[in-house]
Amino acid sequence: MTQDIKEILLTQEQIRAKVKELAKTICEEYAGKDPIFVGVLKGVVIFFADMVREIDIPCQIDFMWISSYGSGSDSSGKMDVKRDVSADLKGRHVVILEDIFDTGNSLEFTYKHLLSKEPASLKICTLLDKPERRNPAVTVQPDYVGFVIPNEFVVGYGLDYDEHYRNLPYVGVLKPEVYSK
Ligand code: PRP
Repeated sequence: MTQDIKEILLTQEQIRAKVKELAKTICEEYAGKDPIFVGVLKGVVIFFADMVREIDIPCQIDFMWISSYGSGSDSSGKMDVKRDVSADLKGRHVVILEDIFDTGNSLEFTYKHLLSKEPASLKICTLLDKPERRNPAVTVQPDYVGFVIPNEFVVGYGLDYDEHYRNLPYVGVLKPEVYSK
């Protein structure tokens, strides 16, 4: 598995420090608000688990699962909710947690979907932001960003290629020969 990685972009230590920093900012902003953190499966699982364990204010967690279809792996096709959140978000302070803001299509869809549930507030926290890939039609912006990264094929820390590499503890750049096979 590690032989498929060209370079480590973000080490475990860098990620751990950033997660602490993001969680601290969010805790300060949401103290007394009993926020709900919504994770968008599956890529977010590692980041989500690390983030919520750094959150030391009362909060709830929930998950949703969206699917895209129609244009391969680029998430540019039509999107649908495969599994919705179970909590009632009306009047609640909601923070969406995501692993990566790439084209932005997934978060645009997720944000609008959750906004229709009339939360008191809705913000987005993403570990990675890859602005070079952004779909110009996307209007949502993340409120909290861990790292702005170059336009490289990254895997690990929840991110996959062909459903593999999610379990790598760091974010690494995949060797082109792996995905151009
Ligand atoms: C990945 C990632 C984000 C999305 C970002 O999910 O977890 O949800 O792509 O890409 P975008 O900004 O171009 O929409 P994916 O659909 O690959 O599913 P996964 O979470 O199960 O890996």
